[in-house]
Amino acid sequence: MSATNNPTPGEARAPGPSVADTLRRDSREVPAPLLEQHYAFLGDEDLPVERYISREFFQREIERLWPNAWQWACREEHLPETGDSYVYDIGPYSVLIARMDDGGVKAFLNVCTHRGTRLIDAQGCAYTPSITCPFHGWSWNLDGSVRNIPGQWDFPHTVGDSHNLAAVRCEVWGGFIFINLNPEAAPLADYLGVMPAHFAQFPLERRRIRAHVQKTLPANWKIAQEAFMEAYHNFETHDSPHGANAQYDVFSKYVSRFIHTIGSYSPTALADYPGDKWRSPPMSEQEMLADLSIEGRSLAAGETARQVAAQAIREQLQAQLGVDIDRCSDSQVLDSIEYHLFPNMFFFPGILIPMVYRFRPNGDDVDSSIFDVLVLEPLPDGAAHPEPPEPTRLGVEQSYTEAPELGWLAPVYDEDTGNLDLQTRGLKTSRKGLSLGNYQEVRIRRVHQTLDEFMDQGKPFR
Ligand code: FES
Ligand SMILES: [Fe+2]
Repeated sequence: MSATNNPTPGEARAPGPSVADTLRRDSREVPAPLLEQHYAFLGDEDLPVERYISREFFQREIERLWPNAWQWACREEHLPETGDSYVYDIGPYSVLIARMDDGGVKAFLNVCTHRGTRLIDAQGCAYTPSITCPFHGWSWNLDGSVRNIPGQWDFPHTVGDSHNLAAVRCEVWGGFIFINLNPEAAPLADYLGVMPAHFAQFPLERRRIRAHVQKTLPANWKIAQEAFMEAYHNFETHDSPHGANAQYDVFSKYVSRFIHTIGSYSPTALADYPGDKWRSPPMSEQEMLADLSIEGRSLAAGETARQVAAQAIREQLQAQLGVDIDRCSDSQVLDSIEYHLFPNMFFFPGILIPMVYRFRPNGDDVDSSIFDVLVLEPLPDGAAHPEPPEPTRLGVEQSYTEAPELGWLAPVYDEDTGNLDLQTRGLKTSRKGLSLGNYQEVRIRRVHQTLDEFMDQGKPFR
C-alpha cells in the first residue's frame, strides 16, 4: 500500500475480516483476553545485520542480556521428588535447580566454591541427595549449605555460610521454573505482566509434557525465534492462506502475542499476494473442514467449519484424555495463540496448538542455536503429572519427521526452519539492514528495543 493511502504508519491492516470478527462468530463465549487489542507503532528503521551476525554483539548479549533475563529452565515435573535436580545451561553459565525436603525448589550456580569446578556436567534431570564436587569431594546439602569439606583442618577460613553454593533467583509460574542470574533482578511478576491474568483460564500447570524435541538450528538464536513471531511467512513458507489477517499485540516490553485463526481465512486479505490459488474460488467452509482433517461430516445451514471442528476436537479429547474442555472457546481449541516472553520464550494456551518454545545460543557459536519444543497436553482434574519424556535431540541435518511424537507439526517445523541457513548466509552478504512490517513484524521490533535496554543497562555477570 502506498504512503499516500496510508499516512499513519502502523494503522493499516489486511483487508477482510479481523481476528476479532472471526472470534465473535464462534460457538462459545470468547475469553476477554482474546478480544483485547494492544498495538502501537514502534518505528520503521531497519535493524542492522550486526545484531544477528557479529561476534561483538553476541558477546555483549552473553555479558549483559543472559545474566539479567528471567528464563524458564525446566518444568516442575522434571524434579518430582526431594533430591531431584535439573541442570540448565545458558551460554557459558550453568544453573543447578534442586527439589528441597519441604517440596520447594532452590537454584544455585552449578559451581564448586573450592576451585570452581562444574558440579554436575550433564544438562537435564538427575538425582542428587547431596551435591558432591568430582575434584576434591566437597559436598553440599540440597539447600546449598556445606555438608562436608574433606580435610577441614586446612580450611579454617571456610566459616559460616562463606562456602555455601551461590544462590540463583528462582520462581515458578505456570508449572515452569524460571531462573535469573542477577540477584537484584525485579520479580518475575513484573516481567510476566498480563500473562497470569491472560492464562488464568488456560492453566499451563495443569498440562503434561506429551513431547519434548530439542534441535540444533543453523542460525543465531534471534534469527531462529523470529521465524516464529509472525504469520506473514505462511503464504510462501507453508503454502497456506491462513494468517494474512492475524492479530499482533504488544502488551509490554516483555510480552507480545499473535492470534492466527485456524479454519477460517479471508481471500480478500490475500488480494495482493501472487497467484489465484486461495482466492478464486475461495475455499468453501466444507473444504476448510476437510482441511482440518474432520472427515465425513456435512455442515448444516449456518454452521461454520470452525464451530464443527472445535466441537469434534472437544469430544475427541474428552474421550482420549478424560479432560473436560467443554467450556473452552472455539478459538482456544483451534487457534494459534502465541505469547512471547522476552527474550526467548513462547507459550501457547491453545488445545490443538499447545506448544512452548525456547531458543538459546548454542555454546559460544554466534550462528547456531538450540530450539526446545514442548507439546503440553491438558491433564485431567486431580491427575498427577506423569514423568516427563526425555527430549528427542535432533542435529542440524536431521528432519523433524525423525521425531514422530510431533505428528502433523513435524513437517511444519521443517518448513519453518528450512530458511534459517539461507537467512544466516544471506545476512552475511547483505549491505542493508532488515526491514520490518509495521504491524505484522512489530513483535520482532519490540524484542530488539528491549534487548537494547539490556545491552545498555544490564548488570555484567561479574
Ligand atoms: S574444586 Fe571442587 S572440591 Fe575442589
Ligand atoms: Fe511457520
